[in-house]
Amino acid sequence: MARVIGNTARRFPVRVMEIADAAQAVVDEIESLARASLREQRRLVVGLPTGRTPLALYAEWAHRVGSGQDALRRIVTFNLDEFLDIAPDHPASCRSYMRTHLLERISLASDAAAFPEAGRCEAYEAAIGAAGGIDLQIVGIGRNGHVGFNEPGSARDSRTREVALALTTREDAAAAFGGLDRVPLRGVTMGIATILAAKRIRVLAFGAAKAAIVHRAVHSRASAALPVSWLRDHPDVQLIVDRDAARDL
Ligand code: GLP
Repeated sequence: MARVIGNTARRFPVRVMEIADAAQAVVDEIESLARASLREQRRLVVGLPTGRTPLALYAEWAHRVGSGQDALRRIVTFNLDEFLDIAPDHPASCRSYMRTHLLERISLASDAAAFPEAGRCEAYEAAIGAAGGIDLQIVGIGRNGHVGFNEPGSARDSRTREVALALTTREDAAAAFGGLDRVPLRGVTMGIATILAAKRIRVLAFGAAKAAIVHRAVHSRASAALPVSWLRDHPDVQLIVDRDAARDL
């Protein structure tokens, strides 16, 4: 069971484990949910993030599909966010990242993997609804406490929308884009309410660089200043961290 840490009314259940074990645990959960969905004649709907954090998870997922776990490729995915004002096949786009790290490796049909797009925010919400809602949403945490591109200031009732990216977010993306001046100023993201509507949420954070934001996520008052803190309200959320990220808890 998850260890519960926190001194606020709403607590984040926290699980501390090695990154490789976290990848196993989350893929185990996806696999078991995917099998259950297939027994109900439907496909599991998974919400997915980009970034360094889920790389071990995607590697494990692809490895299992490669060793015959077919349920793990009979799913539908909705990505959390995307940069705006770049071509969809730009090498630093979230779409390119997902193709490289997961979608091509599990041979997921392109019509089973959705991404938010400029000018189609309501359509994205409608598509999630039409798929039956998100069964399991995985998110990372930006060092400023963002989830997806829900930057500080994001309201709890926010939905999929176009947003201005925070400077720290753009700085973190600078290497992938070949310099800060090439990083888009805008993105499109599922909102906090979109994420909270998922049936289950797993928040991942690994490494000492995330220790400070993990401490704030667990101990600060829930507010728009720290978007990840809104996720504590969810009835089935877990914060999964390694020992380095849990250092200050
Ligand atoms: C990025 C993405 C988020 C991601 C976060 C953390 O900007 N928009 O979806 O979770 O920042 O990234 P990383 O995992 O590389 O620390």
